[in-house]
Amino acid sequence: MENINWKEFGFGYTKTDYNVRCHYRDGKWGELEVSSSDQVNVHIAATGLHYGQQAFEGLKAFKGPDGKVRVFRIDENGKRLQSSSNGIMMAEMPLELFEEAVIKAIKLNERWVPPYESGASLYIRPVLFGNGAQVGVSPAKEYTFAVFVMPVGPYFKEGFKPTDYVIYREYDRAAPQGTGTIKVGGNYASSLRGGTRAHDEGYSAVLFLDAKEKKYIDECGPANFFGIKNNTYVTPKSNSILPSITNKSLCQIAEDLGMTVERRPITVEELAGFTEAGACGTAAVISPIRKIVDADNKVDYFFGDEAGETSFKLYETLRGIQYGTIEDKHNWNTII
Ligand code: PLP
Ligand code: COI
Repeated sequence: MENINWKEFGFGYTKTDYNVRCHYRDGKWGELEVSSSDQVNVHIAATGLHYGQQAFEGLKAFKGPDGKVRVFRIDENGKRLQSSSNGIMMAEMPLELFEEAVIKAIKLNERWVPPYESGASLYIRPVLFGNGAQVGVSPAKEYTFAVFVMPVGPYFKEGFKPTDYVIYREYDRAAPQGTGTIKVGGNYASSLRGGTRAHDEGYSAVLFLDAKEKKYIDECGPANFFGIKNNTYVTPKSNSILPSITNKSLCQIAEDLGMTVERRPITVEELAGFTEAGACGTAAVISPIRKIVDADNKVDYFFGDEAGETSFKLYETLRGIQYGTIEDKHNWNTII
């Protein structure tokens, strides 16, 4: 791998050596299978293809300066996949099987884990979908699970440099009693129209509002939102956002750093009171927000051309734990 330019990686697909699969048939999960092909067999009448019976996860592994590879909060991703399965009536994967499959995929592709100095990491993408012949709208009887990995750099190409987000009230990501709290593909399909317009107009992503009242902040495209004021980390409480594992970790880190944490509804107008704001997620890490443009009301909320001090401290602490340079006192890492 000597000639790999690790710094070149953005957030795109790279074929690595192996992926791991597992099938659910006749009411039980089979053995893990290893493949070097990046194609999967999908039945022409699969519910995953027709009815969106599908969910995915995203987690990362990091190589530390000690040469060890650590995967971050793997159990949380396993539990969230179970919650997604539950939400759309797919077969639940036992946590141990999920963890075994993810760890196997990392180990088989160890040469693809970026070196510490590169600042890049290994992104792990598990996916689960209804497979097998079924045309009636009901839960499938067969499921396919697969996990692949790839080296990635920053999701938003600017990395830790603040970028702009936009509010458009004409697009919703998820309904209040819908699937917003689980990681199913349909939520991403419904974000594409607004997200593409946002990119075309020079923004990193849409800042979605709650679909019912259009009054509260939901989330930032593929990431949760947080704002900082008076040594307080404030993040939305909503029944239509994904419970971000990164956000949950940042809440804990903020508390550990002596900050107050508030998880509550945040109105659009309250944006004016934050001194810093950011988007957070596995892919996004912390992506500081420079400005939020309320496109309908022609109001801008500005947070600064440079990342704020608190966002920087949170980012440094999170990355330090992930790369093994700061003590992992909550046991978030699994060493591979
Ligand atoms: N919100 C959405 C819609 C996402 O797709 C993601 C990415 O997984 C997140 C938030 C962040 O979640 P996590 O920190 O668990 O990656
Ligand atoms: C992640 O952060 O893992 C995501 O799933 C975001 C995205 C690329 C959909």
